Amino acid sequence: MNISEIIKATGVLTSEHSYRKFQKRVDANKSLITETIKDLDVDILEFLEQHSIINGSVLDIGTGSGIHSVHLAKRGFQFTGIDYSPTAIEIALRLSEESGTKIDFLVDDIHQTKLVSQFDIALDRGCLTFTTKPYIEQYKNVIDRLVKINGYYILKIDQLQSLENNYASFLNDPSYDLITKKEAFLTFYSKEHKIPAIFMVFRKLH
Ligand SMILES: C[S@@+](CC[C@H](N)C(=O)[O-])C[C@H]1O[C@@H](n2cnc3c(N)ncnc32)[C@H](O)[C@@H]1O
Repeated sequence: MNISEIIKATGVLTSEHSYRKFQKRVDANKSLITETIKDLDVDILEFLEQHSIINGSVLDIGTGSGIHSVHLAKRGFQFTGIDYSPTAIEIALRLSEESGTKIDFLVDDIHQTKLVSQFDIALDRGCLTFTTKPYIEQYKNVIDRLVKINGYYILKIDQLQSLENNYASFLNDPSYDLITKKEAFLTFYSKEHKIPAIFMVFRKLH
């Protein structure tokens, strides 16, 4: 194993560990998932509304407990959510079952995804931060392959931990038009704990 593979394997284990802890809390308090984050991120909603995007297929990359997939699926989007943490996917499946939404949740690594069909939108909320250098090219190739022409790549990335390197390849690729970029916040499981983030939307031109 080289250093990048070790970092990635550690990432999977850390993710698994925190979702197992979260799963125990959910078992003790059944409504915890739906209570913790009731609303979708305002910037994602505003973007969809401003561009009159009201339906279509969406890939949620690093879906975690699937909260955003479920919220948007309820609004009429057709969702596929992937995460490399099996426990995250178990929680996401449970949430979608409880909320009556039909979402394809899969245990999958975005860098070597099993997915083949294309999507109108790829949404990455907090996942690209975990992608280290050698995997960035693989990640970009996957997005190139899975997003339809005229589709959107929506990225919300941690400002403090992420380097511009993580998304520079999108900025430098003339096939992508950066149509929105603004400062934002990310919250996970607590609306009070706000992480400075950047919200960006790219349109895939060709
Ligand atoms: C900060 S969490 C965000 C979860 C969710 N998107 C949200 O907004 O609540 C990042 C997620 O990305 C997942 N992840 C990280 N690298 C991944 C990869 N290479 N493939 C699939 N999932 C990955 C982690 O397991 C974790 O669930």
